[in-house]
Amino acid sequence: MAQDQLFGPEARSLEELREAAVDCKACDLWKTGTQTVFGEGAESAEIVLVGEQPGDKEDLEGRPFVGPAGRVLDEGLEAAGIDRSLAYVTNAVKHFKWLGRGKRRIHQKPNAAELAACRPWLDAELAVVQPKVLVALGATAAQALLGRQFRVTKQRGVPVDSDLAPYVLATVHPSSILRQETEDDRTAAMADFVADLKVVAKLLRA
Ligand code: URA
Repeated sequence: MAQDQLFGPEARSLEELREAAVDCKACDLWKTGTQTVFGEGAESAEIVLVGEQPGDKEDLEGRPFVGPAGRVLDEGLEAAGIDRSLAYVTNAVKHFKWLGRGKRRIHQKPNAAELAACRPWLDAELAVVQPKVLVALGATAAQALLGRQFRVTKQRGVPVDSDLAPYVLATVHPSSILRQETEDDRTAAMADFVADLKVVAKLLRA
């Protein structure tokens, strides 16, 4: 089923959306991605976490945030007292965009057209799950959800006005923690990430 046949006024289930997204060709990333990596989690989830796009491991496994960035995310959620099994985890773009360098597949940032092509899936996921708290992980997701002028560095951890959910906020992408050069910087970046997620935990209890 094509995207435009799916997004009528009737509520769709996540299962229906996931099945339809398997064959998505709304942009060209399906040609090089192994598979569509759709969101994962309960329809009744109170929190939706949105990343940028699947990474190498996610592309191969077909599940979001199961690679190194996913391990950082899990660690942060646990430290903030949020049970990942109660969250719905997804991405702004659902195919892995990469460039080959030797045997490695190097992550490439999705462009505006790819983000726009994938946006109906994210909107449909949000319409079904209707989370209490929506969290953008990193600048790509934050700008896709909150506008191009949004600056994660300045506005992280603070709920912002949005029609997307009762509470919407952004924090850094977990992979930015992995990219820190020293152990001390990694520890500090992780502490800041956990502090943002503690805001999320508080909003969940509000
Ligand atoms: N990075 C993301 O943004 N999403 C994933 O699923 C994995 C890595």
